[in-house]
Amino acid sequence: MMDITDRYCRSFHRVLSKRAVLYTEMITSAAIVHGNRDNLLGFDNAEHPVVLQLGGSDPLQMAESAAIGEQFGYDEVNINVGCPSDRVKSGRFGACLMAEPSVVAACVEQMQARVSVPVTVKCRIGIDRDDSFEPFEKFIRVVAEAGCETFIVHARKAWLDGLSPKENRNIPPLRYEFVDQIKSLYPDKQFILNGGLLNHNQALNVSQSLDGVMLGREVCSNPWLLSQVDHLYYGDAEDLRTRFQIVEDTYPYVEAQLAQGVSLGRIVKPMLGLFHAEVGGRLWRRSLSETMWLDSAGLHTLQRALGVVKKTAEQVQVRHDDPGTTFDVVNG
Ligand SMILES: Cc1cc2nc3c(=O)[nH]c(=O)nc-3n(C[C@H](O)[C@H](O)[C@H](O)COP(=O)(O)O)c2cc1C
Repeated sequence: MMDITDRYCRSFHRVLSKRAVLYTEMITSAAIVHGNRDNLLGFDNAEHPVVLQLGGSDPLQMAESAAIGEQFGYDEVNINVGCPSDRVKSGRFGACLMAEPSVVAACVEQMQARVSVPVTVKCRIGIDRDDSFEPFEKFIRVVAEAGCETFIVHARKAWLDGLSPKENRNIPPLRYEFVDQIKSLYPDKQFILNGGLLNHNQALNVSQSLDGVMLGREVCSNPWLLSQVDHLYYGDAEDLRTRFQIVEDTYPYVEAQLAQGVSLGRIVKPMLGLFHAEVGGRLWRRSLSETMWLDSAGLHTLQRALGVVKKTAEQVQVRHDDPGTTFDVVNG
């Protein structure tokens, strides 16, 4: 997710789940071919499994970028066929490619010829005002025939005229049944459902006949969701760590990044939602966001913010345990 799932965010998410597949922000193939590759593609070994998402539509340039991504060690390369922004549309990639399945197919073919990691596609169920299933089916058929085995489907259309990218993530209705229907037509292909999933019960429920789910916004605002992924989806033992322990588990990484000159703000921004809906959650967000960008910020800043939440949680616990006093939740 642009401006969100950078390497610092992914490293934090990896502390929460060993197994969840993590994605980069969309990076254009032109940027990779012409830009600073270390800046764009560098990542921490601990992030695996991690997918490089590419934006572009020139098959040879996409293939070149995929090959560069593979050299950097990415586990999979994904083509963005879902972004509706004007800038992306004018570059002829993203969601507008739903109308040009043969271009996506050519990208898949050329990319697969250059890399041995999987080449996957993240798409919508359609674009603009046509509500029928047929164009979606045609898109999947043509791209699958080119050799794509896995599709991540954001189960709503994108309206390329008249809606902002944000509106395009909310206004077009979700049609999960389109994804079920396409899976029944192409049972040998993998379909991963995305869009509007808010919790694991819902995600497990709606994806029963599918091959997986992708959660975007909800995980960013409530990253704690990731701590249950290994248990619920992969059958690992339940993770019994607390949120406090999770933060402490990040300390070695935070120290290493600080030592390399990365600002604390960049490293810990993805952690702001960790205490979402918990006692002290707002205090955590506030004390961290007020201090994490200061020049003097360091590990002690993170430790202090954690100390504030711990103290608040303990005070609430004490009041809860003492029947003589009124229970009063101090939610930050
Ligand atoms: C700020 C933001 C940035 C996003 N950037 C990308 C992106 O780079 N690539 C992509 O495939 N989807 C991107 N998305 C879309 C999400 O991946 C996801 O498809 C969409 O939000 C619907 O899923 P959700 O309801 O679980 O969030 C972005 C969404 C947001 C809110």
